[in-house]
Amino acid sequence: MSGCKNVCIVGSGNWGSAIAKIIGKNVAKSSQFDPIVKMWVYEEILNDRKLTDIINTDHENIKYLPGHKLPENVRAVPDITEAANGADLFVFVLPHQFIGPLCDKMKSHVKANAIGISLIKGVDEGPDGLKFISHIIHEKLGIEMSVLMGANIANEVADEKFCESTIGSKNKTHGELFKNLMQTPNFRITVVEESDTVELCGALKNIVAVGAGFCDGLDYGDNTKAAVIRLGLMEMLAFAKLFCKGAVTSATFLESCGVADLVTTCYGGRNRKVAEAFVRRGKSIEELEKDMLNGQKLQGPQTSAEVYRLLKQKNMLDKFPLFVAVYQICYEKRPVTDFITCLQNHPEHV
Ligand SMILES: NC(=O)c1ccc[n+]([C@@H]2O[C@H](COP(=O)([O-])OP(=O)(O)OC[C@H]3O[C@@H](n4cnc5c(N)ncnc54)[C@H](O)[C@@H]3O)[C@@H](O)[C@H]2O)c1
Repeated sequence: MSGCKNVCIVGSGNWGSAIAKIIGKNVAKSSQFDPIVKMWVYEEILNDRKLTDIINTDHENIKYLPGHKLPENVRAVPDITEAANGADLFVFVLPHQFIGPLCDKMKSHVKANAIGISLIKGVDEGPDGLKFISHIIHEKLGIEMSVLMGANIANEVADEKFCESTIGSKNKTHGELFKNLMQTPNFRITVVEESDTVELCGALKNIVAVGAGFCDGLDYGDNTKAAVIRLGLMEMLAFAKLFCKGAVTSATFLESCGVADLVTTCYGGRNRKVAEAFVRRGKSIEELEKDMLNGQKLQGPQTSAEVYRLLKQKNMLDKFPLFVAVYQICYEKRPVTDFITCLQNHPEHV
C-alpha cells in the first residue's frame, strides 16, 4: 500500500468516540493519512436532533462521550456504504453483536486492497467452534485484519491520561501503520505478531471482570479480587492454548492486552460495575444493562455464554471453573455465593 490513506471508523460508542478523538488529531498532523476521517454512526434521535447532526455541528458525541470535543475533521456519516466508500483503512469499534450484518451491508463498497483493525472485545461461535471477530470481518470483507486491545477505559483515554495498548498484527507493516494512526505520547502502543492471542485476551478478560464484580457485591476484599484476577488469567491462558491455531506465548499476556487490561477491567470497567449491582440489587443482567448503561452494551456475560458452549462441546467445563461459574450465575440462577466455592476448589493449574 502507498499514498495518502483514507480512514473510516466503523462505530461511535464510548470507545469509538474516544479513539476518533485521537485519530482525528493524528491524521491532521501527518502526511501519511487523508485529513478527513469518516465515522459511521448508528443514527439515534436525541432531543429531537439526529446524533450525526449533533456530532457534525457541535463536535461532541453527547450520548456516548459527553464532555469531550471531537476534532472537526471527524465527520459523522449515518450510511455505512457512504462511510466505507474510498476508505483504505478501517477501524472497527462497535459491540460485537452488530458486526456481521454491518459487514454484509458494506461488503460491495470496500476497496480490494483496504485493510482493517478491530478494537472490538468479544468472540462468537461458528460451526467449528470459536470465531474471532477479526476473522469474521476478514471472511466477510476479504480484507487483512489486525487488532488493538489494552487497558484502555475509554473515558480515561479521552481525558488523555497515560496508558498503553497492544496491536496484534501478523503483518508488521500493517501493524506499524495502525500504530502511526493511533499512538500518542499518552497512548503508547506495542506491536506484536500473536494477533489471535491479543484478541482473545480482550474478550476473555470481561468474563473475569464479572467475577471481580461478584466479589465486590459480596463484600470480599482486595485479596479475593487479586485471586480472581490470577485464577482468571490462568484460565485465559489455558483457553487461548486450546483455541488459538497459532502460537500462544505467556509473553503476550504480559503486554497491555493481557494482565494490564485484566487489572483495569476488574477495578474500573462496566462489567465489574454491573456484576456488583447484580449481587446487591438482585435484578437480571438484561435489566441492569438497560438501567445502568444508557445504551452501552455489556460484553462479559454474553462472552461467558459463548465460552461455556464451546467448553461444553469439548468436554472441558471442569477445567474452567471460574468461566463456568460466571455463566451459570448470570444465566442459570446458580447462587452467587457459589462463586467463592469455585475459587476454593479451583484446580492448582488448568
Ligand atoms: N468503552 C470502553 O472503555 C472500551 C474500551 C476498549 C474496548 N471497548 C470495546 O469496544 C467495542 C465498542 O464499544 P463502545 O464502548 O465504543 O460502545 P458502547 O457500548 O459505548 O456503545 C454502543 C454502540 O452501539 C451502537 N448501536 C446500538 N444499537 C446498534 C445497532 N442495532 N446496530 C449497530 N450499532 C448499534 C450505538 O450507536 C453505540 O455506538 C466493544 O467491543 C467494547 O468491548 C470498549
